[in-house]
Amino acid sequence: MGVGKKPRVCVVGASGKLGRYMVGHLLGRGYEVVGVCREQSVGKLAAFEGSMTVVPGATDDREVIGRAVAGCDGVLTVLVPWGVRQYATGTAQAVLDLAPPGARLVFSCGWHISRDGKDVYGPLFRAALAVGGVLARWARFADLRDQVEACRRIFASDTRWTVVRGSALEEGESQGLPVWSRHVGDPVLRSNRTRRTDFALFMVAALTDDALVREAPAIVGRRTPSALAHGAVDG
Ligand SMILES: NC(=O)c1ccc[n+]([C@@H]2O[C@H](COP(=O)([O-])OP(=O)(O)OC[C@H]3O[C@@H](n4cnc5c(N)ncnc54)[C@H](OP(=O)(O)O)[C@@H]3O)[C@@H](O)[C@H]2O)c1
Repeated sequence: MGVGKKPRVCVVGASGKLGRYMVGHLLGRGYEVVGVCREQSVGKLAAFEGSMTVVPGATDDREVIGRAVAGCDGVLTVLVPWGVRQYATGTAQAVLDLAPPGARLVFSCGWHISRDGKDVYGPLFRAALAVGGVLARWARFADLRDQVEACRRIFASDTRWTVVRGSALEEGESQGLPVWSRHVGDPVLRSNRTRRTDFALFMVAALTDDALVREAPAIVGRRTPSALAHGAVDG
């Protein structure tokens, strides 16, 4: 992050649930915030009016992203799972291509993304993914292959990226910074639950955590039974 000036961070997909939590955490930590969201969703950022800059537009529009990330020290990107027109891939590529050299790039996705094929998924997770994936594509509601391709491009890039892989999410008070593991299947992750506000917290904390550069941490809530049982945090 830049020294001597207020670091500037762009949130791509700022109006969604995760996006708004990230904006809140960033503002609370003194960052200057630029948010990109679809034109019809600008009203969802009303609570932050006057404290952030909003760039309306599709997050896969290269002109929109180019304007929004200019001068940014970091970019937090929601890889949107919805739609069947490669929206997440277009968003990721635009951020990779247009963010200033050296900027910290942090992307969100789910556990189903695997960087090295060493993640171990339970039968229920695999079945839900297979059936859900087919149904979502059939209904033209979502295409999980889009997030897979988006992440393949991120993993291949020589930027300073982190891909944060979220477990199942829930609302509720913060439990603190989630714990993480390189691989799904690690017992510490077994609870498969993270508060959405804490997913956002992890994304923001990754901006200044160089140990996470070119890592794809899979996260789980800090106070979940699996995190506590496996000694990831003090009881
Ligand atoms: N939900 C989960 O249980 C879960 C689990 C693991 C990981 N994740 C990851 O968490 C991140 C966000 O999750 P979330 O629950 O906070 O999602 P969310 O609130 O539904 O927001 C996701 C984003 O999708 C956009 N969006 C919705 N419909 C769209 C469409 N048809 N075309 C283009 N954009 C559209 C929203 O923009 P608008 O504000 O403009 O609608 C928003 O920026 C994603 O990276 C996801 O992969 C989620």
